Amino acid sequence: MEKETLLLLQNAALKQIEEADNSEALNNVRNTFLSKKSELSSLMSQLGTLSSEQRKEYGQVINGVRVTITNAIEQKMALLKAKELEAKLARETIDITLPGKEGSVGARNPFYVIEEEMIEIFLGMGFEIADGPEVESDHYNFELMNIPKDHPSRDMQDTFYIDDNNLLRTHTSPVQARVMQAKKEGPIRVICPGKTYRRDDDDATHSHQFAQIEGLVVDKDINIGHLKATLELFVKKMFGEKREIRLRSSYFPFTEPSVEVDITCANCGGKGCSMCKGTGYIEILGAGMVHPNVLKMSGYDPEVYSGFAFGVGIERVAILRYGIDDIRKFYQNDVRFIRQFKKAS
Ligand code: PHE
Repeated sequence: MEKETLLLLQNAALKQIEEADNSEALNNVRNTFLSKKSELSSLMSQLGTLSSEQRKEYGQVINGVRVTITNAIEQKMALLKAKELEAKLARETIDITLPGKEGSVGARNPFYVIEEEMIEIFLGMGFEIADGPEVESDHYNFELMNIPKDHPSRDMQDTFYIDDNNLLRTHTSPVQARVMQAKKEGPIRVICPGKTYRRDDDDATHSHQFAQIEGLVVDKDINIGHLKATLELFVKKMFGEKREIRLRSSYFPFTEPSVEVDITCANCGGKGCSMCKGTGYIEILGAGMVHPNVLKMSGYDPEVYSGFAFGVGIERVAILRYGIDDIRKFYQNDVRFIRQFKKAS
């Protein structure tokens, strides 16, 4: 064993450490000179074959070489790691001046925009909100609304039957009976917004599912003037001060007298045009004075109480407000349709 050899080994190692320009290369150098299979290790294991004096002498030298190489590697490693980190940070710098990705915010279906607006108007007039089931009994949907089993007006309100006695309600009017029965006496002023169903073939003006807001006012001395004033205020708030309403005689089994309510045409202001088929008016809802039988059947004495009721289609109002040409669009979830109402919501 020559000290020369050991010094050569040390110099070779220091040279390679110096040359290593990344941590991986330096790790390889470490392997070459310090691993169990390295020359240094094999020299170390040969120490046992030497005399004790020589062993001491060479042992010190070998150890000195090992410490020198180890320290040199550690120093260089710290240097390389710092450089590599710096490079990595430089590489990963985020350019905060780049414009961000625009998030897409949806729009509310115009149906809900209008429903909310309608409800707000009625709440402002002092109405409370009442609720009733969509799966309704024949009894509430028809009988208590003064439409007995063989009544011809049932033909216009065919629906989806759950069984002989239960069906999807054809209008929100059964909530009238539910509210009166729950209250039993005293004044009532409620609206009932909700889904309604009819067995209709869907087309631009018909949908098997639609929605209404029912209104019911019951008190002593309620007359048709109250009905007209309420609806007039609603129409002016909904469609603008210039709109006028007209009550046209009609028929519903649960009101007497019954009226259809028209509003002046937005397009011609009442003069008559193609949109209103020359009449100057567009129909918007059905209403009337609550039929004495309806009051009586739900526990209100028609000799003491009178009331008015109305039922207005929510889609109908939205269609007239926005000029929408097809009721099905409310239900098709086509974002191209819905996005057009972004401002409105
Ligand atoms: N229920 C009627 C319909 O759906 C509307 C209406 C309600 C008419 C209340 C008069 C009174 O067509």
